[in-house]
Amino acid sequence: MSHLSERPEAPVVGVPMPHESAGQHVTGTALYTDDLVHRTKDVLHAYPVQVMKAHGVITALRTGPALAVPGVVRVLTGADVPGVNDAGMKQDEPLFPDEVMFHGHAVAWVLGETLEAARLGAAAVEVELDEQPSLLTLQEAIAADSFHGAQPVVVTGDVDAGFADSAHVFSGEFQFSGQEHFYLETHAALAQIDENGQVFIQSSTQHPSETQEIVAHVLGVHSHEVTVQCLRMGGGFGGKEMQPHGFAAVAALGAKLTGRPVRFRLNRTQDLTMSGKRHGFHAEWKIGFDADGRIQALEACLTADGGWSLDLSEPVLARALCHIDNTFWIPNARVAGRIAKTHAVSNTAFRGFGGPQGMLVIEDILGRCAPQLGLDPMQLRERNFYQPGQGQTTPYGQPVTQPERISTVWQQVHEDGGLADRKREIAAFNAAHPHTKRALALTGVKFGISFNLTAFNQGGALVLIYKDGSVLINHGGTEMGQGLHTKMLQVAATTLGIPLHKVRLAPTRTDKVPNTPATAASSGADLNGGAVKNACEQLRRRLLQVAASQLGANASDVRIVEGVARALGSDKELAWDELVHTAYFQRVQLSASGFYRTEGLHWDAKTFRGSPFKYFAHGAAATEVEVDGFTGAYRIRRVDIVHDVGDSLSPMIDIGQVEGGFVQGAGWLTLEDLRWDTSDGPNRGRLLTQAASTYKLPSFSEMPEEFNVTLLENATEEGAVYGSKAVGEPPLMLAFSVREALREAAAAFGPAGVSVELASPATPEAVFWAIEAARGGAVQLNGHAHKAAHNGGEVRTGTSSLSNA
Ligand code: MTE
Ligand code: HPA
Repeated sequence: MSHLSERPEAPVVGVPMPHESAGQHVTGTALYTDDLVHRTKDVLHAYPVQVMKAHGVITALRTGPALAVPGVVRVLTGADVPGVNDAGMKQDEPLFPDEVMFHGHAVAWVLGETLEAARLGAAAVEVELDEQPSLLTLQEAIAADSFHGAQPVVVTGDVDAGFADSAHVFSGEFQFSGQEHFYLETHAALAQIDENGQVFIQSSTQHPSETQEIVAHVLGVHSHEVTVQCLRMGGGFGGKEMQPHGFAAVAALGAKLTGRPVRFRLNRTQDLTMSGKRHGFHAEWKIGFDADGRIQALEACLTADGGWSLDLSEPVLARALCHIDNTFWIPNARVAGRIAKTHAVSNTAFRGFGGPQGMLVIEDILGRCAPQLGLDPMQLRERNFYQPGQGQTTPYGQPVTQPERISTVWQQVHEDGGLADRKREIAAFNAAHPHTKRALALTGVKFGISFNLTAFNQGGALVLIYKDGSVLINHGGTEMGQGLHTKMLQVAATTLGIPLHKVRLAPTRTDKVPNTPATAASSGADLNGGAVKNACEQLRRRLLQVAASQLGANASDVRIVEGVARALGSDKELAWDELVHTAYFQRVQLSASGFYRTEGLHWDAKTFRGSPFKYFAHGAAATEVEVDGFTGAYRIRRVDIVHDVGDSLSPMIDIGQVEGGFVQGAGWLTLEDLRWDTSDGPNRGRLLTQAASTYKLPSFSEMPEEFNVTLLENATEEGAVYGSKAVGEPPLMLAFSVREALREAAAAFGPAGVSVELASPATPEAVFWAIEAARGGAVQLNGHAHKAAHNGGEVRTGTSSLSNA
């Protein structure tokens, strides 16, 4: 077997090509789950009965009035569930609840002959509620000691000694918002039952195997009685990693009980009010620096807003804690985490999965502390990078491989982006413009690739070669626009040595590849690519034997390149189709299942130590902004990015991922402002931003005026498929540079050396208030310029005080 990262002659990987469905996307012929409804007869429509109160116990649920609505066929309630009435993996998420846990919670579903009948039926269901007090904000939950799940702590070094040795100690707090996924395609499923009672569900899910498992639990059947297929998703972004399961189970239950196909597709308001989002966080922190600005110690407590059930909050929190270091060496750290239980939707995976939240905390700390240390923020960041040759480990104990990449991408952005000259130009511009300021910030990213839970780091594939030489690949990953299928086609063509047009890809189905992980953690290409490659290698080995006998050579001397088999030193050739045809008549098996598991990982969730990541993905971004001092309005003048994707499997796809990730990150940090009604009025708990009209997403007007994205060259990642690195999530965090540039621009309105606190999202309004504060020179951190005085700031965990005072 060839080495995993080695590329053969004339590889198809590495060739820039459009997304395999690009043509269908732009002509509107690509099919999504709900499009299949038009091809299905006798379909019933499912509609949720949402209760518009934040918290309350259901005292009566009357379905009779709904059944009287013409066209209503059935109302699904908890009494109908033959198996387990739960939609999650933690058994804390009743599918049909007795208690309303958030505003908009669905307590029953109506099946109708038409969508309108189902909608009217849902409106007719009568629900009586014994209303209960609710906790909506992180502050309310923290004050009420309302937490769920584990409360891990990461500890490294000796924090007390680190603070004692610090010349400067600062402390502060930071609370920042979550984010709505706003995928174009809302949650959807279509369930059918065959003549044997077998359930077939088409679902817009990033995790077909887990959707299958939950549906089987709810129906009280075995997994082999349930098949889940995902054609493609119109975006997932983590929002379809766990959340589709319950919805799919409702459709499956409806189909099982009526014997008819059942579909639903949430409308935008339902999707926004019923599905979980990125976790907002609260952070309390204290940091110590030596006289030169080198971090000596960090103590922090991160509280994630988990919402009403756990969903993926524990692993999200774990990733946040594992990314509090970002690119910085923190010799002594004690970082605690906890999950607030609030009466809100259950927050879930979202691109970066807690990593962005952990990294935002340290980037915010450095951005705030730099002026008080008398350092340029770029200098402060650079001074604290992990260094090569020092054997440095992360706070959770993983050696930092390739620490030199951190400064390589950083320097490249610095040089290619002409940062030194531009900083001088900006200083001159700012001196001449009292009401408009510009700033340029450079930030880096180090993101761990693999699932923290070691078991998830496996992939499977099934590759079939037909007698005519055409190839069909199945793998366990799902396509959500990120280009995974394009990459898998390229991997298969490369491994078999054939042109791309010979290979087709079948939709992701649980009856082809079992027990797959979610397509998540950016590891879709690593895991499924490893499995596709493994299956293709088995087939290639068999075919090389056949070719060798036909060409009169040793198998080890035969190469298949661009669809032609040749032996070294011989002119004889054998075309691929002929080779396959011959193999068939020699009764050589022309199908293979492939498997891949990431080696070398270990993680102890109890001690919070180990090496959970196969490698780190790196990147750096410089953003220049211009801010108006009267309004706080700003524009992004220029962005320069250098990102490390190893040796790219598909450069056009990867550049698209970097651009898209960056813009999505900038949306989270600057525009997208989730608001709930937190008053004590009748609408308490209602999501106020429940449409695109009130939830501002990045659009053309927010794009950087100049946007330069470069992939790091000569970046082979040893031990990963064809030397590539994962790309899906890490670029989102390059958007820290936008936020830090806004902070610096706001600071430029005030005197030098002032620490600027900036809300997140940094909307124009937030930037305006930051400017006002900077102008007043009033924002100073709790800080002490000498170690003898470092009693400022206590960092509390749920149960104990970590104060050094
Ligand atoms: N790109 C598009 N266009 N749409 C998406 O939904 N999801 C992101 C990222 N890029 C997403 C995307 C997220 S959250 C992840 S984890 C990865 O894609 C998942 O795919 P991969 O593992 O194949 O990179
Ligand atoms: N991203 C990162 N890590 C993860 C994810 C994800 O979506 N899911 C589980 N671990």
